Amino acid sequence: MKHGLDGLPYFYLLFLLHPGILQGLDSMNSGEVVYIQVQAKGVVGGSVKLECGLTLPDFYIWGYTAPGTENMHAVAYSFLQGTKLQALTKTLGNLSITTDTASLWIDQLPLVAQGLYTYQAFYKNTFQGDTFIYCYVQLFVLVPVSKPYILVSNTSLVEGTPMWMRCVLENGTEPVNYTWEQEDRDGFITKVAESNINQVNITFVNRNHTGRYRCQATNEVNRQYSDHIWLEVLFGPDVPLIDVTPHSVTEQGYSVFEKTTVSLTCQASSNPPSQYTWFYSNSQVHTGQQYNITSILRVNSGLYSCLAQNFILKTYLNSTVTIFVYYLPDGSPTCNIFPINNYTDLALWCLWEGGYPPASLHWSSHLLNPNVKASSPTNITVIQPGARTPHNSTFTCHGSHVVSPTSYICSTTACT
Ligand SMILES: *[C@@H]1O[C@H](CO)[C@@H](O)[C@H](O)[C@H]1NC(C)=O
Ligand SMILES: *[C@@H]1O[C@H](CO)[C@@H](O)[C@H](O)[C@H]1NC(C)=O
Ligand SMILES: *[C@@H]1O[C@H](CO)[C@@H](O)[C@H](O)[C@H]1NC(C)=O
Ligand SMILES: *[C@@H]1O[C@H](CO)[C@@H](O)[C@H](O)[C@H]1NC(C)=O
Ligand SMILES: *[C@@H]1O[C@H](CO)[C@@H](O)[C@H](O)[C@H]1NC(C)=O
Ligand SMILES: *[C@@H]1O[C@H](CO)[C@@H](O)[C@H](O)[C@H]1NC(C)=O
Ligand SMILES: *[C@@H]1O[C@H](CO)[C@@H](O)[C@H](O)[C@H]1NC(C)=O
Ligand SMILES: *[C@@H]1O[C@H](CO)[C@@H](O)[C@H](O)[C@H]1NC(C)=O
Ligand SMILES: *[C@@H]1O[C@H](CO)[C@@H](O)[C@H](O)[C@H]1NC(C)=O
Ligand SMILES: *[C@@H]1O[C@H](CO)[C@@H](O)[C@H](O)[C@H]1NC(C)=O
Ligand SMILES: *[C@@H]1O[C@H](CO)[C@@H](O)[C@H](O)[C@H]1NC(C)=O
Repeated sequence: MKHGLDGLPYFYLLFLLHPGILQGLDSMNSGEVVYIQVQAKGVVGGSVKLECGLTLPDFYIWGYTAPGTENMHAVAYSFLQGTKLQALTKTLGNLSITTDTASLWIDQLPLVAQGLYTYQAFYKNTFQGDTFIYCYVQLFVLVPVSKPYILVSNTSLVEGTPMWMRCVLENGTEPVNYTWEQEDRDGFITKVAESNINQVNITFVNRNHTGRYRCQATNEVNRQYSDHIWLEVLFGPDVPLIDVTPHSVTEQGYSVFEKTTVSLTCQASSNPPSQYTWFYSNSQVHTGQQYNITSILRVNSGLYSCLAQNFILKTYLNSTVTIFVYYLPDGSPTCNIFPINNYTDLALWCLWEGGYPPASLHWSSHLLNPNVKASSPTNITVIQPGARTPHNSTFTCHGSHVVSPTSYICSTTACT
C-alpha cells in the first residue's frame, strides 16, 4: 500500500496530518486536484518538518515563496532519478527530504526560511485513479525571547513624582507578554503588573514602591527573566510624632513631675532617615532622636519642638509639645484660727501656696458639719459657730498634691 491516500476516508486524513490548521481537501473525486493548507511553526535554529502526505508520491515538487514576494522557486523535486535539491535550499537551512513521505525537513532553521511552501504531488493509479495533491504550508519561524533588561526613567525616585519602567527585549517573536515582580525590603514578592505592553507607568511614586524589581518576557517559545534592579524612593519627613515618657496628658499638654528624668522621643518617617533637632522655646537644645532631660525643673516648663530633616531632599517639618512641670508647694500647709463676728464665731484659715498645679486643701474635725465639705486650692477659710465649739477643740487642715502621695497637714486648737 504505497499509495495510501486513496483508502483513507476524508476525516482520517485531516486527523493524521500535521496538527496545524488544515483546510481543503475539497474533493476526493477522481480527476479533481486535492488542496491542503497547513500552518507550521519552527523555532529559529531548531528543526521543523513540513509534511503534506502520509505516503511517498510518484512525483512531487516543493516550492518556496518568500514573504512579500510573488515568485515561487523550486526547492526540491523527484522525478525518475530520485530527489534533486535546488541551490536555493542552502539559504533555507540544512534542508532534506524524508524518504518515507517526501516531507521537507529543515534543520538549523534560519529566520529567512519563513514563508510559503508549496508541495505538488502525483499519485499514479490509486483507487480513484490518478491523484494530484496541491499543498500549501505556511511556515512561521519563531524567535525565542532573549534575556530582557530593565530601563527605568530614574532609579533615584522621589515620592509623588512620576516614573516609568520598561522591559526591553532584543529578540523575540510577538506577541510577547510582560510581567513585573517586586520584592520589598522584607523579601515579600508581589506581581505588580502583567501586560502585553512592555512599559509600566506610575503617576505618583510612593515609598511602597521601594524594592527589587525584575520583569519576565514570555512568548510562544519561552520565557526569560531580567536581572533585578533596585528602586529607591526618597520621601519625607512625615509630620514628627513626639513621645514624652513618663507623662500624663492634660488638656494643655504633657505633665511631668519635677526632678524626674524625662525622655522626649521624636519619630518622623523619612528616606533617608530623618535627622532630628530639639528646640526649647525656639533655641536649639539637642540633636538626636531622643532628648533626655535628667531632673527636670519647674523652670524647664514650656514648648519643646522637634525638627525632622531630610538632608538629601532638603525637606523638613517640626512638631511642638507643651510640657508642664508639676511641683509641690514649699513646706506644709499653714493653719490659723481667729475670732470673728465680735467673738461669736471662729474662722478657720489654712494656706499652702506655691505649688503647680495648686494644692488642694480641706479641713477635718468631728465638729464640722460633714455636709460642709469645703475643699479648695491654696487657701481655705471655714466659719465655725463659736457656740458649738467646745474649749480646746482641734481642727486639722489636709493638703494634698498630685506630685506626692503624702498628705500634708497642719492643726490648730480653738481657745474659746
Ligand atoms: C544537515 O543535517 C544532516 C542530517 O539531517 C546532517 O547529517 C548534516 O551534518 C547537517 N549539516 C550541517 C551543515 O549541519
Ligand atoms: C538577537 O538576535 C541576533 C540575531 O539572531 C543575535 O545576534 C543576538 O545575539 C540576539 N540577542 C540576544 C540578546 O540574544
Ligand atoms: C532623577 O530624579 C532626581 C530627583 O528627583 C532628579 O534630581 C534627577 O535629575 C533625575 N534624573 C533624571 C535622569 O531624570
Ligand atoms: C506609559 O506612557 C507611555 C508614554 O507616556 C505610553 O506610550 C504608554 O502607553 C503608557 N503605558 C501604559 C501601560 O499606560
Ligand atoms: C504603604 O503600605 C502600607 C502598608 O501596606 C500602607 O499602610 C500605606 O498606606 C502605603 N503607603 C502609601 C503611600 O501607599
Ligand atoms: C499573553 O496574555 C494573554 C492574556 O492574559 C494570554 O491570553 C496569552 O496567551 C498570553 N500570551 C503568551 C505568549 O503568554
Ligand atoms: C535616654 O534615657 C533612656 C532611658 O533611661 C536611655 O535608654 C537612652 O539611651 C537615653 N538616651 C539618650 C540619648 O541619652
Ligand atoms: C516649626 O514650623 C513653624 C511653621 O510650621 C515655623 O514657624 C517654626 O519656625 C518652625 N520651628 C523650627 C524650630 O524650625
Ligand atoms: C461686742 O460685744 C461686747 C460685749 O459682749 C459689746 O459690749 C459690744 O457692744 C459688742 N460690739 C459690737 C460692735 O457689737
Ligand atoms: C485665698 O483665696 C482667695 C480666692 O479663693 C483669694 O481671693 C485670697 O486672696 C486668698 N488669700 C490668701 C491669703 O492667699
Ligand atoms: C487641751 O487639750 C490638750 C490635749 O488634748 C491637753 O493636753 C491640754 O491640757 C488641754 N488644755 C486645756 C486648757 O484644757
